[in-house]
Amino acid sequence: MTPAPDPGLPTDARIITRTPRLVLRTWTAADVAPIARVWSDAETMRYAGATPVERIPAALRAGLAAQAAHGVCLWAVELPGRGVIGDCGFHHRPDGLELGYHFDPRFWGRGYATEAARGAIAYAIESLGARRIVAWVAPANPRSAAVLDRLGFTGEGPDPAEDGELRYTLTVGA
Ligand SMILES: CC(C)(COP(=O)(O)OP(=O)(O)OC[C@H]1O[C@@H](n2cnc3c(N)ncnc32)[C@H](O)[C@@H]1OP(=O)(O)O)[C@@H](O)C(=O)NCCC(=O)NCCS
Repeated sequence: MTPAPDPGLPTDARIITRTPRLVLRTWTAADVAPIARVWSDAETMRYAGATPVERIPAALRAGLAAQAAHGVCLWAVELPGRGVIGDCGFHHRPDGLELGYHFDPRFWGRGYATEAARGAIAYAIESLGARRIVAWVAPANPRSAAVLDRLGFTGEGPDPAEDGELRYTLTVGA
């Protein structure tokens, strides 16, 4: 099912940051169908839980609300010429920023997730003054753990407060 364009979403995006190959930006109405391919994909959302297609517009509106309230959300990751290939950004938490990312499996294995996350982290440090970034990874998700290893996160082991997911931390300047 192709989701209908949502009148509650803007037509223009705000660019958050650029990396050598990618653009991280806020969501627009035109992103509903592309990101639905990612967020409803069973393999990609195996650990986070898929978002039904009909709920994608509301999820994008929630992202824009988080952006307005906290200056962060899971941003659209655009590969110029190919469109939106995933998301990458942060959930705002009282104790810091939580990194997250989900990519279309057709674009795995090319370094895009690491590159997008590196750009998001640089933006958080330089523009938002972030000093500590956390992430949780399911023990059976080594691809995600490898992204965090490449970014310099420190693994702290299973977190009982997060159903035993592995906790990773990046402390700026440490
Ligand atoms: C987690 C996830 C984003 C990782 O994707 P990924 O493709 O493995 O990670 P990257 O995009 O950083 O790509 C790294 C790979 O690209 C390779 N690569 C190819 N070309 C490259 C280039 N030009 N630059 C850098 N790396 C490159 C790297 O060598 C590496 O290969 P390897 O996995 O064989 O070691 C992806 O598996 C995913 O979307 N999973 C589902 C969602 C999820 O689990 N999210 C995390 C929980 S929030």
